Amino acid sequence: MLNSFVYDIPTKVYFGKDQMNHLGPELRKFGTRVLLVYGGGSIKKTGLYDRVAEELRDAGLSCFELSGVDPNPRITSVAQGANLCREHGIDVLLAVGGGSVIDCAKVIAAAANYDGDPWDIVTQKVPCPSCLPVVTILTIAATGSEMDPGCVISKPDTMDKIGVYTQAPRVSFLDPTHTFSVGRRQTACGSADILSHVMEVYFSRDYSMDMIDGFMESMMRSVLKYAPVALAEPENYEARANLMWAASWAINGFIEYGKIQRWACHPMEHELSAVYDITHGLGLAILTPRWMEYALSEQTAPRYKQFAVNVLGMDAGLDDMEAGRSVIEALKLFFYDKLGLESTFTEIGIGDEHFAAMAEKACGGSVLNAFRPLARQDIENIFRMCL
Ligand code: NZQ
Ligand code: ZN
Repeated sequence: MLNSFVYDIPTKVYFGKDQMNHLGPELRKFGTRVLLVYGGGSIKKTGLYDRVAEELRDAGLSCFELSGVDPNPRITSVAQGANLCREHGIDVLLAVGGGSVIDCAKVIAAAANYDGDPWDIVTQKVPCPSCLPVVTILTIAATGSEMDPGCVISKPDTMDKIGVYTQAPRVSFLDPTHTFSVGRRQTACGSADILSHVMEVYFSRDYSMDMIDGFMESMMRSVLKYAPVALAEPENYEARANLMWAASWAINGFIEYGKIQRWACHPMEHELSAVYDITHGLGLAILTPRWMEYALSEQTAPRYKQFAVNVLGMDAGLDDMEAGRSVIEALKLFFYDKLGLESTFTEIGIGDEHFAAMAEKACGGSVLNAFRPLARQDIENIFRMCL
């Protein structure tokens, strides 16, 4: 039975082209001093940086900057950003980029009001302090960070990558044309991430709402349909728009409400990117089909069958286990042939030397109570299947 829940998705979204004239007025609602946060410079190459600077100038806003936020953002960037907020009396953060930039900005927004080490916030040693408001301009369809309170921050010296909830952005600008410049590989990785966010919920032990099943199936069909289109035609607006909106809705909470569920591939992947600094979506693309093989049993197979029929359009007459095996093969085809991603750890230089420690961290020292419950040894087994 579906549990009671509270619907609360507080992000106001401006979706589509020609919405940037709302940026200045939206920021002004929070004050006049803005910290612009961005990554390694893609926004300068595309001209988005100049466009944003113009809007801020026209709105009479004072702009300060934190640039160089890395993919798999580091706690050092958070600390730097929090210092800038305090030094300049920042009223609002403007994150322009992908999940890494937005995640970093969200933790800066919390750390700005905390005097201690910002890592305490990530590890939840302290309750999340009140946050400065965050506004985002999304440039890559992937994580859904533009509409959720989640943030994932890395600390390379201890090989940690940890997720924490702070506060969802107040306003997000989602213009699909801002993703036209995303390269093939990042488009593929982002699409794998979107698909995984839905699959983590779809393949859980609690699937009690038919209407949400249909919503999830439709999102997954859209990713399977439009990711290859975006690879072939990077400036296809319809493809980029579908991926962008699916990304936001995959993880903004809507499909999870009322369900008791535990994700499996994400905790495993976060250990991979913590140790090897790989792209999140790539790790998921390698792990997901192996995890599905591991979780397939007479008990779980009916859910695979539903996916086979409703998402992949397979024959409803298939036996459940047969459907399960076909789904796994179809996903491998999608990730490795259609999206062109590497299919094994070996291909990306990952060996088994850290598997035991990574598995221990991924299951939090006990058991991931996922679709198929996974203890440390199960996770190690799945890692080995990926070699
Ligand atoms: O840094 P720049 O120069 O901007 O380049 C970025 C970066 O190199 C580039 N890029 C972004 N937009 C572009 C572009 N290049 C050309 N044109 C554009 N329009 O893409 C590269 C990757 O960017 P990144 O922000 O790292 O990608 P993504 O959005 O996939 O974010 C990944 C991070 O988000 C976390 C991941 O673990 C990872 O750290 N996640 C966050 C979640 C959340 N907040 O809820 C959930 C996810 O499951 C995930 O864990
Ligand atoms: Zn993800």
